[in-house]
Amino acid sequence: MCGIVAVAARREASEILLEGLRRLEYRGYDSAGMALIDNEKNLLLHKKLGRVSELMKAQAMEPHLGCVGIAHTRWATHGEPSAANAHPHISNQRVALVHNGIIENHAALRGEMIDLGYEFTSTTDSEVIVHLLHHFLRDGETMLGAMQKAVGRLQGAYALAALDTENPGQIVAAREGSPLVVGVGIGENFLASDQLALRQVTDRFIYLEEGDLVQITSASMQVIDLSGQRVERQVTRISEALETIDRGNYDHFMHKEIHQQPRALADALQIDADRRISAKCFGTGAEAVFDRVAAIQIVACGTSYHAGMVARYWLEQLAGIPCQVEVASEFRYRTRVQHPGTLLVTVSQSGETADTLAALRNVAEGEFVGSLAIANVDNSSLVRASDLVFLTRAGAEIGVASTKAFTTQLVALMMLTIVLGQRRGSLTENKARELTNALHSLPEFVQQVLELDPTIEKLAEAFINKHHTLFLGRGIHYPVAMEGALKLKEISYIHAEAYPAGELKHGPLALVDADMPIVAVAPTDDLLEKLRSNLEEVRSRGGELYVFADKEAGFANGPGLRVLQLPSCPEVLMPIVYTVALQLLSYHVALHKGTDLDKPRNLAKSVTVE
Ligand code: F6R
Repeated sequence: MCGIVAVAARREASEILLEGLRRLEYRGYDSAGMALIDNEKNLLLHKKLGRVSELMKAQAMEPHLGCVGIAHTRWATHGEPSAANAHPHISNQRVALVHNGIIENHAALRGEMIDLGYEFTSTTDSEVIVHLLHHFLRDGETMLGAMQKAVGRLQGAYALAALDTENPGQIVAAREGSPLVVGVGIGENFLASDQLALRQVTDRFIYLEEGDLVQITSASMQVIDLSGQRVERQVTRISEALETIDRGNYDHFMHKEIHQQPRALADALQIDADRRISAKCFGTGAEAVFDRVAAIQIVACGTSYHAGMVARYWLEQLAGIPCQVEVASEFRYRTRVQHPGTLLVTVSQSGETADTLAALRNVAEGEFVGSLAIANVDNSSLVRASDLVFLTRAGAEIGVASTKAFTTQLVALMMLTIVLGQRRGSLTENKARELTNALHSLPEFVQQVLELDPTIEKLAEAFINKHHTLFLGRGIHYPVAMEGALKLKEISYIHAEAYPAGELKHGPLALVDADMPIVAVAPTDDLLEKLRSNLEEVRSRGGELYVFADKEAGFANGPGLRVLQLPSCPEVLMPIVYTVALQLLSYHVALHKGTDLDKPRNLAKSVTVE
């Protein structure tokens, strides 16, 4: 979604703001802006349609200097992408504000502010907040007081940061439903919607709680909680090495992140020296919770939902636990009947996805035996709100299309399957060891797929001029096909749908002709012969097949059939191994088509609005 950076320092702030925005740009990238207060207490503003690079150019052409500033990169929700709708929004050349989230009662507030004489220059929901703030400041409130009153009028989700030329050293901020962190410096303090934006200036962070207000100056910081009391929030030092956010030798983050997978998967795996997986990987207290688990409910969005779909096969088949999987935006609004003893498992790369977070926060008292978050970002809202946590340790994922986060989520979910299966007695010691050994060898198999990169690049050429594709799989490879289709559509803009192959003849077969490439996920498993028959149905109707299969499956290139041979691997690893090949296919199709594949149109990383 949108990104916020704010700086209160004694040194020049614009460089820090722009570097922070550059680091956050993967979250939203349709427009960007920056406001600074100069030595004469003037408000200096740059706002540009397009990327952060446009803002950088504007700053280079006309440098704005100041030690206190706020900046924003936007992903439009209310109001088209334009310079006028870009943040910061300004009130009376005095107050500037940036906002992430959605204000649901903006229309009513806009009417009220217009009646008070305020003029609106944008069509965003955010602009009402800056006029509200101005209104309270003009009445003589302090910045914190004005912010407290302003947020009291808001319904919806927000992370806000604002500055006021009449209180030139201060920035006030607030959060409710959208993430915001304070970066603690020496003689300077910062705010950002993600700590990644500030890692070049500090390694100490305060993760604000829901409803917190904060005021920073270069020398001080004050946090006020929901009840209006001053509180001390814990400062967390991020100890891991500074995450590089450059592309290294790769042309795109997505390509780099696909190739990082052997390392990321090895880091995600937590196997003891005696080749066992401990319940403790899921947090202290996991054993007690797991002993009460009779069923699993997985809730997630997008790619993370697909990870949950794969895991359902594992949890039911290997651990013998009933498992439901649902997209968070549906789950949160549905009247539910829960199996007693259900564990709620949320899966999220960012740990900030609004629907997933709301699903977790809205569960009824006693509805679940506990909650487990599988997330990639430590200290994210989901992590902090859950009883148990598994951090996937994939490292920062910058490409909007999720790759290494997905495969590491699968590792986490397989580890959960093994731990629960053993505790329930559904998995024998031998079977658990066999699965654990297979997991241990996963990075090697993924490396073998990565070596097929040039072959997949060639294969991808066949898709460049296509408008539609079908992805087919059966059993556990149906969600793998779903993930393959999602990846292709989001970065190449080719329409792609996934079907369980057995469903073809119930409708979609009507679409099949020579213009519709069909990708089949076809490793050797119990359903291969069924899948083979489904593929014959396609072939006999002139469909062009691209079959991803191992040697044992016995497919051979022929008219209308191209085979990508993947390594033969233990069955439990197939969903991950085949996914990596599908990631490379999407990457190369998009590359051939010349789309902006790290920042696909209309999308953003970390969807912090509903
Ligand atoms: C697709 C993709 C999205 C995310 C979804 C959930 O490549 O990345 O579908 O998976 O927005 O995001 P997280 O996992 O952060 O909750």
